[in-house]
Amino acid sequence: MMACTMSQEQQEHWKSGWGFLLAALGSAVGLGNVWRFSYVAGENGGGAFLLVYIAMILAVGVPLLLAEFALGRSTQRESSSAIRAIAPASAWRHLGLLGVLVSSVVLAYYAVIAGWVFKYLSIYLLGSGPDLATPGFATAFDTYVAGSAQPLLWQGLGLLLTIGLIALGVERGIEKLNLLLMPALGVLLLLLAVHSTTLDGFAPGLAFLFQPDWSVLASPKVYLAALGQAFFSIGLGMGVMVTFGSYLMPTQRLPRAALTVVLCDTLFALTAGLVIFPAVFSFGLDPTQGPGLAFVVLPEVFAQMRWGMGVATVFFLLLSMAALTSMVSLLEVPVAFAIQRLGLSRPMASMCIGAGLFLLGVPASLGFGWWSDVLVAGGRNILDAMDFVAVDFLLPLNGLLLTLVLGWVWPRKQALQASEMDRSPYGHLWHLALRFMLPVLLATVLVTSLLQS
Ligand code: TRP
Repeated sequence: MMACTMSQEQQEHWKSGWGFLLAALGSAVGLGNVWRFSYVAGENGGGAFLLVYIAMILAVGVPLLLAEFALGRSTQRESSSAIRAIAPASAWRHLGLLGVLVSSVVLAYYAVIAGWVFKYLSIYLLGSGPDLATPGFATAFDTYVAGSAQPLLWQGLGLLLTIGLIALGVERGIEKLNLLLMPALGVLLLLLAVHSTTLDGFAPGLAFLFQPDWSVLASPKVYLAALGQAFFSIGLGMGVMVTFGSYLMPTQRLPRAALTVVLCDTLFALTAGLVIFPAVFSFGLDPTQGPGLAFVVLPEVFAQMRWGMGVATVFFLLLSMAALTSMVSLLEVPVAFAIQRLGLSRPMASMCIGAGLFLLGVPASLGFGWWSDVLVAGGRNILDAMDFVAVDFLLPLNGLLLTLVLGWVWPRKQALQASEMDRSPYGHLWHLALRFMLPVLLATVLVTSLLQS
């Protein structure tokens, strides 16, 4: 009874266009916008990086997001079946499996970082924020992640919540969650941004984020970092947006949806920058501190700030919500695959895959403690190595192969129709970008990543 095939099963759908938009935005807005964007921008020259980043999202992000939505909606299938539908006979039909693999790997280590965020939220909610100063903020964080039971517990709790939401389904789980959390997220971020304008460091923070230092433009590394960040932040190249597009009805206007999601995602990252950098500068700290920025530098900042404990609570609440909506989108890819291709029921698929990904994340978590002497992929700890392999290698690889299928295997006329670009004066340009510019850019990123490693 459970093993019903897709032809007998009703494809699920979003209840409203808003629900879809907010779900896509919920997938896009995540740890990447706050935790990753701020340190990548910090390491790559602030304002000049921003310019390159904006060029990348407009040239690459919007066209590819539109293509992913269009493929999903026109086939009404999760990403791997959607690719099969447009390339039934060739070897390309197996490509979707890679997307399922990448989103699974990303979720496995993403859940570890999300676990740290949930833990920090609980610290501030319980009023123990000031205690972090006793051992020192860096030591407090290092000691915590080097533990075993606690980090694993929070990682597991976050995944359990994600499994529950995915088991509820597209409309009752993903859509409801995002309708609730995304507006709240916007309000919290605005609150923090307004507070940020009152800090002494507001002007230098603003200058750091917006004043371009043109010299960094000579370094190829900046372009690679910008493209990688664009892919991660929008959530491209894994099939999440194909799967989300497959739950759409024909009435949604896709080009507008793609533009809205990309612009809002960027606005979100910028506003997060406006919260983070002024705070960092106000207390004379270093903005280029890498991934520890959110867990070491900011807690130190909060400790010195007026109303700091309240601000910290709001900040980690926001980050927790952003992480949860992204985790939900990442789990939906393998789960939809298991439902439609393997015939599993939704609750069964959510549970089995969620449990498997918890286990896959365990080494990433233990890599900071017990297994800290295990270094892979050029001296990285396990989590950094997973992030490196997934984001610098598998994501551009899958993105490259995906753009080749979308641009070359999918008949041009169908692609233009499915994306509604047949009615746009830019349709021709969009398809040229899909065919030539995107593959060339992604191939460059891939080759450079390979050479650098
Ligand atoms: N975009 C999310 C973030 O910014 C992470 C994420 C969710 C993601 N879905 C994705 C990244 C798909 C790559 C691909 O944190």
